[in-house]
Amino acid sequence: MKQIVVSGIRSTGHLHLGNYYGALRNFIQMQNDFECYFFIADYHSLTTHPDPKDLHPNVRSILAEYLASGLDPEKSSIYIQSDVPEVCEIFTLLNMHAYIGELERTASFKDKIRKQPENVNAGLLTYPVLMAADILQHKANLVPVGKDQLQHLEMTRKYARRFNTIYGAELFPEPDAYKFHGEPIKIPGLDGSGKMGKSEGNCIYLNDEDKVLTKKVMRAVTDQGPTEMNQQKPEVIENLFTLMKVVSTPDTVEHFNDLYNKCEIRYGDMKKQLAEDILKVTAPIRERYKEIVNDDEYLRRVAAIGAEKARESSAKTLREMREIMGFKKF
Ligand code: AMP
Ligand code: TRP
Repeated sequence: MKQIVVSGIRSTGHLHLGNYYGALRNFIQMQNDFECYFFIADYHSLTTHPDPKDLHPNVRSILAEYLASGLDPEKSSIYIQSDVPEVCEIFTLLNMHAYIGELERTASFKDKIRKQPENVNAGLLTYPVLMAADILQHKANLVPVGKDQLQHLEMTRKYARRFNTIYGAELFPEPDAYKFHGEPIKIPGLDGSGKMGKSEGNCIYLNDEDKVLTKKVMRAVTDQGPTEMNQQKPEVIENLFTLMKVVSTPDTVEHFNDLYNKCEIRYGDMKKQLAEDILKVTAPIRERYKEIVNDDEYLRRVAAIGAEKARESSAKTLREMREIMGFKKF
């Protein structure tokens, strides 16, 4: 039987290189070999209380970026999370077996408490349960996500196992993280911080114009340069190389690595090359995005077809859950 793949990205604005390499690029490669459901997590985006007037434009731009990057609605179900309301009922049912203690211990929740102490809402606490509902509603086997989501996925596995055990059913497979090149990936920020992320404000967006993008890369934090042959690289420099390994050819990486080891590297040259190689990836996506983003009819059609397929799959799982849990019609 075909393996089932589910993944999503929150609709909090434009997609950045972390989203692309951690998630979207894998979606594109997987759609040829698996039964795929790729959605835009608009419910999940509500935890930070976006302005209602931004909600739909944010969904629209991500949908257009999915399509511009090569997600194919003929191959995958591409849908908006809130177009499949069955997920909310599945979420309710799963919540009964999700314990407050384990939710409070989740790293992302603890992180949010630190970052937004004025808005520690229940949606943040139960975020991993809604994510489990997203995944389990389609009985996924594989979930392509970046490193930061692995704990959430572990919780999904736990909820799947728990449901099966409590009800003596074999309803849910335990989904695995899908790692395309062996290890889960983490795209660093170019400001010397660990991770590229929206809330870190250090993103290179798929949609950045050439000049903006080049400027961001040229401003990447570096150091004074190596002082000893073959010395270990400090984190900021390692980050630059990590990004280069993702976007540039192995020859290019080796070239700059050799220069580094010989203490002859000029970071300006390296950054210039890096910016060029990032643009090779992002510029075509940006061009296609411009053609798609205002094509209401096309976007409407894609979202409608995607939602129909996703709803069918979700409704079936929901029916099975209800039956297993003892719901009956009069
Ligand atoms: P988010 O934007 O937090 O909804 O993330 C959507 C997807 O992108 C998830 O699969 C994340 O793991 C992935 N992602 C976000 N930032 C990064 C990053 N810096 N490196 C790798 N993957 C990332
Ligand atoms: N939590 C994910 C993130 O922030 C987004 C997401 C929501 C997701 N539901 C999902 C990812 C289901 C994979 C599967 O990146």
